[in-house]
Amino acid sequence: MNKELRSAVIAGNWKMNCGPAAAKALIEDLKPLCVNAECDVIVCVPFVDLHVALEATKGSNIKVGAQNCHWAESGAFTAEISAGMLKELGVEYVILGHSERRQYFGETDVTVNQRLRAALNAGLKPILCVGEVLEQREQGVTEEIVRMQTKIALQGVSEEEMKNIIIAYEPVWAIGTGKTATAEQADEVCGQIRKVLAELYSEAVAQATTIQYGGSMKPSNAKELLGKEHVDGGLIGGAALKAADFFGIIDAAK
Ligand code: 13P
Repeated sequence: MNKELRSAVIAGNWKMNCGPAAAKALIEDLKPLCVNAECDVIVCVPFVDLHVALEATKGSNIKVGAQNCHWAESGAFTAEISAGMLKELGVEYVILGHSERRQYFGETDVTVNQRLRAALNAGLKPILCVGEVLEQREQGVTEEIVRMQTKIALQGVSEEEMKNIIIAYEPVWAIGTGKTATAEQADEVCGQIRKVLAELYSEAVAQATTIQYGGSMKPSNAKELLGKEHVDGGLIGGAALKAADFFGIIDAAK
């Protein structure tokens, strides 16, 4: 097991927060803080902020991501955004399969797979989210659920393409609730995901893939979570909206 093989990645998922003006201000606050960051830093902003975020991050070490993309290249899909459109704008990353998309917008493992393949084909780097709901954890099927989500999302994805994928383990019961998985729980499930990657691809792919934890991560718990063998980074919601808090987590990734 070798954590040094993998890049540490701290990504902010702003969700439906900040219009363009607030986005610019938050990025301007983050830029000086992140100059000496020892991990990759990504901000995943609302679609309407992408242009401003790409401008504001130019020449800095902060990268920009979107929060979803459609699976088709173009067509009659009112209000949707294609992977190619994001790529053309200069976006590098895209969150896919977030539990809020699954929960409120009917996304399934199959559509997550379609979106993921479209993102890869367009040259984007997906951040694939998986995670169990509280009932599933209580039923003792966390590993089965996360294995299934991972395997279906990665159908048709080649070993070469895995170099461009980050996986985020986000237990749904820990998102926005203030309840964090213990570092042991996070490490255990991230390790189970790594085992699936070894089965699907190879031990080398499993060891090289960055697996993040997400769910109420904050400066006060980041160090312990990020110190675990299988936790290579964080996908941060609420704490990504304040520059000092987000930086506190980036700093803990040292
Ligand atoms: P919180 O950090 O607000 O719990 O959100 C986590 C999350 O959903 C990131 O994608």
